Amino acid sequence: MASQRKFFVGGNWKMNGNKASIDGIIQFLNAGPLDPNTEVVVSPPAIYMEYVRGKLDQKIGVAGQNCYKVEKGAFTGDISANMIKDIGCEWVILGHSERRNVFGESDQLIGEKVKYALSQGLKVIACIGEKIEEREAGKTEEVVYRQMQAIVDNVAPDQWANVVVAYEPVWAIGTGKTATPAQAQEVHQKLRAWVAKKVSEPVANSLRIVYGGSVSAANCKELGGQSDIDGSLVGGASLKPDFVQIVNATQ
Ligand code: 13P
Repeated sequence: MASQRKFFVGGNWKMNGNKASIDGIIQFLNAGPLDPNTEVVVSPPAIYMEYVRGKLDQKIGVAGQNCYKVEKGAFTGDISANMIKDIGCEWVILGHSERRNVFGESDQLIGEKVKYALSQGLKVIACIGEKIEEREAGKTEEVVYRQMQAIVDNVAPDQWANVVVAYEPVWAIGTGKTATPAQAQEVHQKLRAWVAKKVSEPVANSLRIVYGGSVSAANCKELGGQSDIDGSLVGGASLKPDFVQIVNATQ
């Protein structure tokens, strides 16, 4: 992690939990202690966001796992950026690999969602990452640059401070197969160089690029020690007290 970028750790709970288990998570998060030099954001299922926001220490952010690209209307089953803000939350995850690959969201739709969420003052965790067959075909860079382009096209120059990019190789998500620190660092470094070329040097230097995919208490320090890895987006381990250790990876 480079010193000018604040370390960022997100907990993506995905479609897990109930009030009883969430109470347990809130308890260990509020007890911490969490490194004050790390920005922490957790993302509960939409139905529990307001409950979590009401009980969680205010210094921990709460994120939606997804939201649609307009304020309101006939979009059964969806929620808007405005609703996330209305209940006092300030972040949203967009373009997660499960939204892309289970629910069929396109680069274009994700770009439109990023644009709308930012326009409403939400901060965005924008996710990208290649599938195993793409990596094996030598297409990792092509894929992540294409996914990044759809994001870059929808972020105004003054909005970059409200964006965190999460590089989550699909083959590492929920599989226990973490990218090695060297594999992750290589992609992060290439992404940062790409951003420098396509957006600007200052944005590339300040943009936080975090890694996701089987991050654990055991591997978080080595991953977080890489110069272009600015934190993590954690799935399974964010439901467990281990998450506190992951938040504190740079201590
Ligand atoms: P796991 O940590 O369970 O592999 O999930 C990663 C992820 O998808 C976070 O968004």
